[in-house]
This record gives sequence, structure tokens and C-alpha cells, in this order.
Amino acid sequence: MAHTVLFVDDNPVILKTIALAFAGEDYNILYAGSGEQALTMISAEAPQVIVSDLRMSGMDGLEFLRRARRINSSFIGMIFTAYLEVDSIMGAVGDDAIWRYIVKPWQDSRELILAVRNAGQFYDALAAQRKARELFDRSERLSALGSLVAGISHQFNNINVGVFGYVQMSLANKALPAEVRDHLENVKLFTKRGSEIVKELAAFSDQSKQWGFTSVCLSETAMDALAVCAKALAADGVEVETRFAETCDAVINYGLVKQMIVNFITNAQHATLGRVPRKIMVETGRRDDHVYVKVIDNGCGIPDGYQKKIFDPFFTTKGAQAAPGSMQGKVSGVGLGLSLSQTVATAHNGEISVKSAIDEGSEFTFLLPAA
Ligand SMILES: Nc1ncnc2c1ncn2[C@@H]1O[C@H](COP(=O)(O)OP(=O)(O)OP(=O)(O)O)[C@@H](O)[C@H]1O
Ligand SMILES: [Mg+2]
Repeated sequence: MAHTVLFVDDNPVILKTIALAFAGEDYNILYAGSGEQALTMISAEAPQVIVSDLRMSGMDGLEFLRRARRINSSFIGMIFTAYLEVDSIMGAVGDDAIWRYIVKPWQDSRELILAVRNAGQFYDALAAQRKARELFDRSERLSALGSLVAGISHQFNNINVGVFGYVQMSLANKALPAEVRDHLENVKLFTKRGSEIVKELAAFSDQSKQWGFTSVCLSETAMDALAVCAKALAADGVEVETRFAETCDAVINYGLVKQMIVNFITNAQHATLGRVPRKIMVETGRRDDHVYVKVIDNGCGIPDGYQKKIFDPFFTTKGAQAAPGSMQGKVSGVGLGLSLSQTVATAHNGEISVKSAIDEGSEFTFLLPAA
């Protein structure tokens, strides 16, 4: 993509010379006649390279570039200066806002073009470095979270297994009064729920530690997620339609995103219980510089008041938490799927959106930056 370069000079003749020099070059060139005017352009235009004259009426070039840095942290700044003034700005060159100077008047416009080209290359190198660093940080954070979750769920599991074992031993006692036996059976049910929580947390921590961030086709990830659910969907007689985009790459943690889609599909499967026919559609696509994966169902829908709550940890309307008489009582869930998915979405600089209408169905979309 062509770089955007902003030239700032209070001499219109210089700006015209620059326009002539860059006429045949592939840049998006912007001009400003003063530092004040240029500052108003920086947020909207986000130039990658800024070249400013040193001596200007009003704000001088050094002050302008330093103020510009407070608005935009990533541009490469250069300063035009007369040969005799080089000494006076040497101290400023190399600081946060000023990368290098260009001596004015330049003998040959190719010199200027080359300086701008180098600045563009430097910008790209820094941007790639920043991106790599950010991905590394994100994958480190997820992996640290995974380890924490693994540690807690391991301890919790030990407690749970201990309780379950003693309950089993107690239940083996034939002489137990009926009431105590009932209570113990309930304790067993609670430990079962504890095991389901551990299972879901362990899956999250396994994936977060196993996979780093890599460029992956979201359509393939969605296909793999669907393959995980295929047997259960077929057994339930759920009709599945797919619409996969061909070019749909994103930098993702494959394991965690796959798990997020599996949860969307499982939720859709549960939501369509009792419908005739039961339908799910899985779609991937590209929207400008973002890609998305979407799971649509013709299920029970989500009441308005619940659309935020469903992302709370342990919020579920399944199993024992289902409304009396609801089909959701027939399936089990611990209420961690969407809350973990939200964590995963944030780690990908993405977001999950929900559209839903009662008795018509729901649509869950994960939108994230394209690779
Ligand atoms: N497609 C959907 N249609 C209707 N309700 C949904 C849908 N997806 C999620 N929900 C609601 O959001 C709640 C939370 O979903 P979430 O995936 O976090 O947990 P869960 O499916 O109940 O349990 P699990 O931890 O096993 O995923 C569900 O219990 C359900 O009430
Ligand atoms: Mg779920």
C-alpha cells in the first residue's frame, strides 16, 4: 500500500517543487503551510512519513514534530534545514520525533525522493517489529492465563475427586437412612458439575499453551470446528449449511478460535432443540480489513435482558439452571463457553456480536482484523 507523506513548509514555492518532484511517484502526498495546519491533519490522515521545514513563521519544525508525536506515535519524522543550521539541530536528530534531516535546497530531487523512500522502508520495518512484539505479548499473556487456569483447575479437581470418592464410599453403606442417601446423591451431582467445569477450563488452558499466534485461514478453522461437532449434529438431525469465503486469513491462536466456534455451534445445536427442522449455518467472510466467522441458528433465541449476561462466567440456562419445562433442561452446560470466548476475542483484538429474536433464532459473529 502506498505510504502517506505529509510535507509542511510555509513557503508555497517549496511545496510546489515537492509536488513536481513526486508527480510520478506512488505516494499519497499531503501538504500543509504551517505546523498548526499540519497538526489538524494528523489524526485523520495518519501519515507514515512527515517532513517539515525547520524555520517557519509560528511554530517551528522541531516543536511541530514533537507535538505531532503526541498525536501519532508511529510516523517517521524528518526535517528540512539549511546547511548552515545543521549544527543547531544535531541534538534533536535521533530523538523520539526526528529521525533525520534533509539539507535544503536539495541539489537533485532524487535525493529527496530517496530520503522519503528510506523513511517509508524504516516505517514498515518498525511496524512489522511492533506487530511481532504485540503478537508475542498476546500469546505470552494467553499462555500465562492458561497456566494459571490449569493450576487452579488441577487443585479444584483434586478436591472434587476426593469429595466424589468419599461420597461413593458412603453410598456403599446399605444401612444409610433414605434421607442421607438423597443428600449424598445430590452431592454427587454437584461434583459432576465440578468435573464439567474442570473439563472446560482444562481445554482452554491446553489450547492456550499449545498454540501461538499464526496466520491461518478462518474458513479452515471453522471447517475443523464443524468436524468436531459433526457426529453430534448428525445424531440430533440438525441440518448444517456452510458458506465459506476463500480468502479469509487472520493471525490467530488456532486452538482457541476453533474452540470458540465449537462452542458457538454447540450452543446453536442446543438452542434448536425441539424445532422442526433444526437448522444451523456457519459462515466466514471478509469485511474491509476484517474477517469474521458467524454461526446462525433457527433456535429459541435469547431474551433481550440476557444478551449481556450470557457472557458472564457461569451464566447458563441449561441443565438444572433451565427454566421449568424448557427443552434446555435436557442438555448440560456450565456457562463458561461464551465468557472464555470473550477472553479469546479480546486477545485477538476482535469482538463478538450477537443478534437474536425470541423463537426465531440467534446469530453469533466473531469479527477480527484480517492478516
Ligand atoms: N445460539 C444461542 N441461542 C440461544 N441461547 C444461547 C445461544 N448461545 C448462547 N446462549 C445462551 O447463553 C448461555 C451461555 O452460553 P455459554 O456458551 O457461555 O454457556 P453454556 O453453553 O450454557 O455452557 P458451556 O460452558 O458448556 O458452554 C447459554 O446457557 C444460553 O442461555
Ligand atoms: Mg456453550
